[in-house]
Amino acid sequence: MKALKFLTAAAVAVAGFAGAAQSETIKVGLILPMTGPFASTGRAVESAAKLYMQQHGNKVGGHTIELVVQDDTGAADTTRRIAQEMVVRGGVKVLGGFGLTPLAMAAAPVAEQAKVPMVVMAAATSVITTKSQYIARTSFTLPQAAVGIAEWAPKNGIKSVVTMVSDYAPGIDAEKSFTEVFTRNGGKVVEQLRVPLANPDFSPFMQRVKDSGAGALFIFVPSGVGSAVMKEFQNRGLAEAGMKLIGTGDVVDDDILNQMGPAALGTVTSHHYSAAHDSAENKTFVSGYKALTGNRPNFMAVGGYDGMRLIYAAIEKAGGKVDGDSLIAAMKGMSWTSPRGPVSIDPETRDIVQNIYIRRVEKQDGELHNVEFDVIKDVKDPGKAKK
Ligand code: PHB
Repeated sequence: MKALKFLTAAAVAVAGFAGAAQSETIKVGLILPMTGPFASTGRAVESAAKLYMQQHGNKVGGHTIELVVQDDTGAADTTRRIAQEMVVRGGVKVLGGFGLTPLAMAAAPVAEQAKVPMVVMAAATSVITTKSQYIARTSFTLPQAAVGIAEWAPKNGIKSVVTMVSDYAPGIDAEKSFTEVFTRNGGKVVEQLRVPLANPDFSPFMQRVKDSGAGALFIFVPSGVGSAVMKEFQNRGLAEAGMKLIGTGDVVDDDILNQMGPAALGTVTSHHYSAAHDSAENKTFVSGYKALTGNRPNFMAVGGYDGMRLIYAAIEKAGGKVDGDSLIAAMKGMSWTSPRGPVSIDPETRDIVQNIYIRRVEKQDGELHNVEFDVIKDVKDPGKAKK
């Protein structure tokens, strides 16, 4: 009787091993700034990831997906500690989120050592995906976003510019790539200003921009900070002085754009996502997100939504295998139609390839929107193409 029991158990184990992979609960761990100055990014990514799961269920490839979200408060040491805990003790199979570049950089060695895929859904400095073979990205890169406006501006009467960026890695990426492309296209950068990331006071910087006599201000600030920029642009009377405002789309975040008021009207930016993007996929995304949160999705939200989609699709494609090597291999070359338009994961760099749209802030149906009027298709990260 004992022997029979043993045999039966062994037979079950062998059958399970040899046949289809066993059904597991796969934990996806999102690490995000849910409190602190960049909490809006954490909220957007988390809400959109939840929306994706609400729309697609929690079963994929025979497995059950469980989402775990933890707050790193925007502190890199905390991001790293949470990443370690999640993979060592928490049984997390895929890491995601990462609201700012220093936070993604802090977690990269954990992904590399533990061989756990890390999906960067928000942070946008070019170099991040080179920090581990296990990193893929569904947000964007600053060089990718900046190239659109840098080409558009000199062809549209903007010949001289002051650049103003937040003084950390993505700001430097934006400043460098904008300046290079703008200058190559005949534009002149008369001054380059870098504003502290923490508690920025834009007012003295705006005065310098006004005094410069340049035709436009090119700006990059991270998601959530645009309202403060617009306020100072208005207070210092820059628009009245004839100064145009251009930038990457981070400054005209869709979730706060409508509250920025008339100062934002006419701002031309290049970016990968607008809530006003005209497609069936985007309409479903925007209405679902509004129903869930009461707000419009911004570009951080689309990064979270597509991040979950990439994870789901990889689990499906890996045929039930859930180890890091199988999942990251499955992510490479994946393509789909995002609410932002067609996207793919570059198989060499694991970075996202996507359209970059030129947009102008306009009033439509009584609300301010980033209205797309031109597109550069299938843009790879230029920050890496050169290396
Ligand atoms: C970043 O820290 O990488 C970052 C954050 C917010 C943005 C863009 C880049 O809007």
